[in-house]
Amino acid sequence: MSTETITYDDVDDPLLEMRDVTAGYGNTTVIHDVNVTVGDGEIACLIGPNGSGKSTLMKSIYGFADVFEGRVRLGGEDVTGRSPQDNLRAGMSYVLQDASVFPGMSVHENMLMGGYVFDDDSRARKRAEELYDEFPRLGDLREQRAGSLSGGQRRLLELARALMVEPDVMMLDEPSIGLEPRYIDQVFERIQQLNDLGTTILLVEQNAEKGLSVADRGFVLASGEIKFTGSGTELLNDEEVGRLYLGG
Ligand SMILES: Nc1ncnc2c1ncn2[C@@H]1O[C@H](COP(=O)(O)OP(=O)(O)O)[C@@H](O)[C@H]1O
Ligand SMILES: [Mg+2]
Repeated sequence: MSTETITYDDVDDPLLEMRDVTAGYGNTTVIHDVNVTVGDGEIACLIGPNGSGKSTLMKSIYGFADVFEGRVRLGGEDVTGRSPQDNLRAGMSYVLQDASVFPGMSVHENMLMGGYVFDDDSRARKRAEELYDEFPRLGDLREQRAGSLSGGQRRLLELARALMVEPDVMMLDEPSIGLEPRYIDQVFERIQQLNDLGTTILLVEQNAEKGLSVADRGFVLASGEIKFTGSGTELLNDEEVGRLYLGG
């Protein structure tokens, strides 16, 4: 692990890369000189205190925040400043930290929205059926109004909807927040299954130990800067990371 000079020579097959990214909103800079590389097929987990800029980092990758300096690359292609819609179309999906279901719509209508970038409506309907087969609990709820779902059901809908585009890369911002413990384990199992099927995942997790324990690679963000990087295990076992960021 390296805490001073961060090198990425160890990433054989980089898929998602941030190079010296400074980003924020309007006149406000939130993250500074961020370097993050996620290898193809990896799970990477970003941890750090509240307000350190974790969500902003994800938003800067996806086109929801302003990139002032630096580059974002996906599969070697420069995608800096690309719109969320184009990112989705290119196979990158994003589950935001804040609830993003449409409460007045049914579960099924929400699912179809996840495929809104498809040119052909029948493709979205077909894909939704595949996902109901994969998530029978969600299929049972398809006619229910999304606003009436429990927290765990809503999170399942958000995850499944993000799978509508069969993403190569998924960004998940605090997928376990606010869930009962039994649902938290299910969410992490699902993340691992998705990764086993080949999806590269960038995860922000408040539950840092849990997040790092499933991660190939971890990053600690504090005050808008990457302070530590290493394998999930390295960060979990690092004395300083443990003391400062894992509450131990
Ligand atoms: N839309 C926004 N406009 C201006 N400042 C924002 C916006 N969203 C977040 N911030 C600020 O950016 C900082 C980091 O927030 P955030 O990225 O949400 O951190 P984290 O996800 O680590 O809790 C905070 O000071 C927050 O107030
Ligand atoms: Mg956040």
